[in-house]
Amino acid sequence: MTESISPRSIRYASRLQGESLTVGYDAAPILNDVDFQVPDGQVTILVGPNGSGKSTLLKALARILTPTEGQVLLDGQNIHRSKTREVAKKLGLLPQGPVAPEGLTVRELVAQGRFPHQSLLRQWSSEDERAVNDAMAVAKVAGFADRPVDGLSGGQRQRCWIAMVLAQQTDLVLLDEPTTFLDLKVQVDLMELLVQLAHQMGRTLVVVLHELNLAAAYADTLVMLRDGAILQWGAPSDVFTSANLKAVFDLDAHVIRDPHSKRLICVPTSAPEPVQHVEVGVRIA
Ligand SMILES: Nc1ncnc2c1ncn2[C@@H]1O[C@H](COP(=O)(O)OP(=O)(O)OP(=O)(O)O)[C@@H](O)[C@H]1O
Ligand SMILES: [Mg+2]
Repeated sequence: MTESISPRSIRYASRLQGESLTVGYDAAPILNDVDFQVPDGQVTILVGPNGSGKSTLLKALARILTPTEGQVLLDGQNIHRSKTREVAKKLGLLPQGPVAPEGLTVRELVAQGRFPHQSLLRQWSSEDERAVNDAMAVAKVAGFADRPVDGLSGGQRQRCWIAMVLAQQTDLVLLDEPTTFLDLKVQVDLMELLVQLAHQMGRTLVVVLHELNLAAAYADTLVMLRDGAILQWGAPSDVFTSANLKAVFDLDAHVIRDPHSKRLICVPTSAPEPVQHVEVGVRIA
């Protein structure tokens, strides 16, 4: 079995930290004694096989799951002892496979991202309106703002949820497989946006992705999970290697540098050889 690693010894600014987390559902724990310090102002990308615990980790960090051991600290406070609204002003979560209530329009869904900013004394304001419109524009859903979410395509729906999280305007944003259903151009646009939010606006992103080449291209820190443990943690140039893809995913792949973008990409070696193009002539009798 591969040894798990701990970022406990690594020192950097981190507002959101999981300390010695043991988390699960009803039966045996899924994560055992996991440490996870989210680097501030960066894009951190989690990858790992199905069932490796990525969503479980994200849910624990976002206060959806309570650890049986250890704690999650947000700005030094135990997140599970903090008020929902206070946490939601700082941290937004896009869960995996969310479902919108029937008939809810895109605008209504995105407006739900403003809930932490409302109170009895502070009703809907022009600031909320602006945040919703900006988020819809960025996620490119403004064109169907008044349509019901459940009547949209998979990719359009996914963009509505992304808009909702963006409208929340939190410093910390956790996204569980945000690229599901998106066409490649929209996936790339989304990743560029996330990098911009981190590097230009100081926001902190934690993103679960299955697209390994996107993960290697856009992560500041790439985290690899397997069987509920963090096996690798670091810059893609250090951890995105054939050996690690084998150890984490049991995937046979070459990792090469794309000569144009200079980015690392993996090419599975079990992929079939490209088919030779054969000219087929038509014989005329
Ligand atoms: N609600 C639940 N109740 C019980 N077990 C669960 C629940 N959700 C997940 N699990 C189990 O916890 C383990 C980790 O699941 P998790 O959803 O964290 O994996 P993941 O890495 O996000 O996988 P995927 O890539 O498929 O989304 C799996 O064995 C899964 O079956
Ligand atoms: Mg998951």
